[in-house]
Amino acid sequence: MASSVDFSRVRKAVIPAAGWGTRFLPATKASPKEMLPVVDKPTIQYVVEEAAHSGLDDILIVTGRTKRAIEDHFDRSTELEAVLSAKGRAELLELVEGISRIAELHFVRQKEQLGLGHAVLCARHHVGDRPFAVLLGDDIIDSVEPVTAQLLSLAAAEGCGVVALERHTGPEISRYGVVSGRPLREGVFSIEGLVEKPPAEKAPSQLAVMGRYVLPPSVFELLEQTAPGVGGEIQITDALDRLAREDRLLGLEYEGRRYDIGDKHGWMVANIELMLKHPTLGPPLRDYLRGHPATR
Ligand code: G1P
Repeated sequence: MASSVDFSRVRKAVIPAAGWGTRFLPATKASPKEMLPVVDKPTIQYVVEEAAHSGLDDILIVTGRTKRAIEDHFDRSTELEAVLSAKGRAELLELVEGISRIAELHFVRQKEQLGLGHAVLCARHHVGDRPFAVLLGDDIIDSVEPVTAQLLSLAAAEGCGVVALERHTGPEISRYGVVSGRPLREGVFSIEGLVEKPPAEKAPSQLAVMGRYVLPPSVFELLEQTAPGVGGEIQITDALDRLAREDRLLGLEYEGRRYDIGDKHGWMVANIELMLKHPTLGPPLRDYLRGHPATR
């Protein structure tokens, strides 16, 4: 079955942000991991900005219990705006007001945490019968062209779904969904199958799926039919395995540097590297890292 979906005008993005954040306990006990700050913004703001800068102006965030701070962050804060305005803090006022204007945001709650595939399924009603993008809420990818825009270009050119891939040569491959497939050209793969978190020695390739996807609406039907997999959870990877086998799915080795914010080390590396790139915060941090005894 070849898909006849028009991938040239994708407008909607789904950002699942309903996971427990177990790798970052105790910080994530009562606060969403997606609200962990990186430099001066919560992680999820980077993800929402990536979607918006990729031309996606309708963004649905799938949240759950303990995630209310995410909605508050993207809402107007009239009291704070009044205080900043009264104090003449125009720059901060613009910063705060700007957050609620990034894109048109919608929220839906995943009532039971049944897995990433189930979280995406919660977006079915909102997305309808058009293709859409999925951006995982705890990965930041720093790149010149937003990674989602890179996937969207390929999806539009090829008329099929695309997932982001990153090559991993070490045992950490077992933390990811892994694809099997054949190269079509530099950085582009025709995916033949996917497996979620295989033991490293059984991984079908070194190509791991990263948290960005452009998908046809038919994936919802596949998700409906997907039984719980690894960890007893409904896995998007299992639905995509069927999509790859029954329709067509490409993988793109994207250009960019990914940070896994759900991981304590990944979060710290993101803070250091992205702060070093910051025009005013970068230089003093560089001096500190070079000169302070604690950093040797
Ligand atoms: C999820 C997906 C996995 C993917 C990973 C990328 O796993 O299930 O296929 O490789 O994101 O970050 P999680 O990190 O939620 O366990």
